[in-house]
Amino acid sequence: MPAIEFRDVVKRFGDNVVLDGLSFDVPQGDRVTLIGPSGSGKTTILRLLMTLEEADGGLIHIDGDPYTHEYRGPKRVAIPEKRRRVVRNRVGMVFQQFNLFPNMTVLENIVEAPVHVLRQPKDEAVARAEQLLDQVGLADKRDARCTQLSGGQQQRVAIARALAMDPEILLLDEVTSALDPEIVADVLGVLRDVAASTDITMLLVTHEMQFAREVSNRVLMFDHGRIVEEADPETMFTAPRHERTQEFLRAVLG
Ligand SMILES: Nc1ncnc2c1ncn2[C@@H]1O[C@H](COP(=O)(O)OP(=O)(O)OP(=O)(O)O)[C@@H](O)[C@H]1O
Ligand SMILES: [Mg+2]
Repeated sequence: MPAIEFRDVVKRFGDNVVLDGLSFDVPQGDRVTLIGPSGSGKTTILRLLMTLEEADGGLIHIDGDPYTHEYRGPKRVAIPEKRRRVVRNRVGMVFQQFNLFPNMTVLENIVEAPVHVLRQPKDEAVARAEQLLDQVGLADKRDARCTQLSGGQQQRVAIARALAMDPEILLLDEVTSALDPEIVADVLGVLRDVAASTDITMLLVTHEMQFAREVSNRVLMFDHGRIVEEADPETMFTAPRHERTQEFLRAVLG
């Protein structure tokens, strides 16, 4: 059973058809990197998986469960919010912009969803949050306000916050793009550690090709919402077959 399954997914913004019948699978435990030019639909795919956007056609399954829509006979029907939420709780996301709650402390940011969404007992959620803060190297910032943290620190809190929900699937969208070069390594180090120490399925968008090469086992190259090439990282980054991929990687890698 794949962790993520897209079947003929269509997504339009007005006349702009961003995904035109996209199908792909991510097996459980896989680490898949999405690459491709700006506007090729990478973020849209992740936003569909967070139900921040809604597909206009096709189906998305998580662990085999229909997510936002299902077919009843020939009819594609929306799944009620209550059922969606159960599946969505298995999915965590970290964005380029950290989106922390600015008026809360670091600890409060991390325990908020486990306590209010998963109904975890407070002391359990706090203990887990402290463990995660330790893992991301921010144990000493437990009671700091998020506004007092650097970008790299905020992003590490955002990663801890996502992990606190014990997601089966973690979506990462250019999580280092807004950071100064010298702190990118800290955040990538934390993610490397997550990848090595858990079996979370990861779907990531990144311009850090070296990182993608280390962490992922498969790379999908997108152009205009279609997969133009799919390969293991070694092949994709050293011997891409398609001209479009070669051109893109030349531009990105310089
Ligand atoms: N909320 C929106 N409203 C209208 N159009 C949108 C919206 N979000 C995305 N689009 C359009 O969908 C297309 C794909 O956008 P998307 O953000 O998925 O690209 P991307 O591959 O993530 O690009 P980048 O590398 O620049 O982040 C673009 O043409 C974009 O303009
Ligand atoms: Mg994007």
